[in-house]
Amino acid sequence: MNPINPINPTNSFMKQKRIHIVTMGCQMNVYDSEQMLRILAPLNYRPTSQLDNADLILLNTCSIRKKAEHKVFSFLGRLVRMKQRRPHIIIGVGGCVAQQEGYRLIERAPHIDIVFGTFALGRLPTLVQQVEDQRKQIVDINPRKGSEPLCVGEPVLKAGRATAFVTIMQGCDNFCTYCVVPYVRGREVSRKPEEILEEIRLLVESGVREVTVIGQNVNAYGQKNGHGCDFPTILEHVSNIEELHRIRFTTSHPKDLSDRLTEAFCKLDKLVPHIHLPVQSGSDRVLRRMNRGYTRDFYLKKVARLRNVRPDIAITSDIIIGFPGEEGVDFDATVDLVRQVGFDSLFLFKYSDRPNVAAAKFSNKVPEAVKGDRFSTLLEVQREFTLAKNKALVGSIQEVLVEGFSKKSRNQLTGRTPCNKIVNIADGADGMARVGQVLPVRIVEAFSHSLLGQHVGKGYGKYPGKNGGMSYAA
Ligand code: SAH
Ligand code: SF4
Ligand code: F3S
Repeated sequence: MNPINPINPTNSFMKQKRIHIVTMGCQMNVYDSEQMLRILAPLNYRPTSQLDNADLILLNTCSIRKKAEHKVFSFLGRLVRMKQRRPHIIIGVGGCVAQQEGYRLIERAPHIDIVFGTFALGRLPTLVQQVEDQRKQIVDINPRKGSEPLCVGEPVLKAGRATAFVTIMQGCDNFCTYCVVPYVRGREVSRKPEEILEEIRLLVESGVREVTVIGQNVNAYGQKNGHGCDFPTILEHVSNIEELHRIRFTTSHPKDLSDRLTEAFCKLDKLVPHIHLPVQSGSDRVLRRMNRGYTRDFYLKKVARLRNVRPDIAITSDIIIGFPGEEGVDFDATVDLVRQVGFDSLFLFKYSDRPNVAAAKFSNKVPEAVKGDRFSTLLEVQREFTLAKNKALVGSIQEVLVEGFSKKSRNQLTGRTPCNKIVNIADGADGMARVGQVLPVRIVEAFSHSLLGQHVGKGYGKYPGKNGGMSYAA
């Protein structure tokens, strides 16, 4: 088959229309935006990178923190004048803020044409068609119907892409007391294994060499649907796909990190030695109030086990700073845990009240200034670890999967190590022809967010093809 499917059927009788999608939030939204492109293609929408010449503008929104929600409204503010100038454009708001706010969005921003929640993605073509035909405002935040699949359309197969996200499950049953996700993404639902595998096979055919399988809690994959396949098993199936070099996953909850999954890091060659394992806090009292379902000691034991099975594993994490009732001693316990684990990198978030979540009603909110101080303290502690971990790689040879040109210069290629460190390679000479290849790269310099390296030995590369195996040229 032709590995590159056209986004749009070429039909000279149909007017070519342009769609621009603004994606905010997590990897799942990135994946969902691609689904939007997939299913709007038959309506003759072609993607454009320019907002100004789009006929359909979709905002795929995130509600995880207040700031993310503000971003939606400030972006919508920018569109008021555009809609006055070009009244024919259709503005749609989807994703997590859409699911959460529904009609209230149109009340606050009357220039919106469509509000479509996270469960309405599959119905998007019908909604767009209705607006095109009848020019009316529509809100669809209804649940997914039993027969409607979790993911829709064929994957967007783009040439020159080495990595892709693939949703395997969606939703969350954990109800951490700070988190809006269970309200905006619903309960856990898993995709059928055969659907996931087919999608990955198609992506690999089009040149993708690394997939990140995603879900709010991937460990819960298959636990409810009775597909007869749990998370470690689906990883095994994925790793059997020829010519796929690497598998990543995100996010997994520490309480559900099974021994089988831990052992997969040793058993499955293609599973990279990196895990994002959000801890949120190092204080048992705070973890309990967060409803995380584990203790500090439990988390540390999981880390020790992972390192035992895979000594070179990179561990990254998320931490919420200033959860209601977090006192100095609790924060000290978090700093202590961070030092004890020595994470490869860390994402820090100041606690933010969200609609409906239990913690919004908790007393003893931490003042913003205190959150700010704690944030800077922890950032400083982690900065040293991140830099030290990166510096330790100087002089080593790392396998880098080339993803494209670096942001800075077209003379540099960029890619990632198995441990997910970004490496810019001081040799962009071969350009895009290298995308999808795994190159041996000597690390020459380390920074806090990236590494600089040199491609060592001409022709000494692991090339895609040849059953995904190593094929070193002489
Ligand atoms: N499903 C993932 C988390 C997704 S949200 C998991 O359970 O690990 C990504 C991160 O946002 C969380 O790990 C948490 O650190 C942060 N976060 C979630 N809700 C938040 C809130 N109300 N305030 C601040 N940070 C929050
Ligand atoms: Fe949110 Fe907790 Fe579910 Fe993660 S596990 S999505 S933090 S409720
Ligand atoms: Fe944000 Fe929704 Fe993802 S709230 S983090 S876009 S699941």
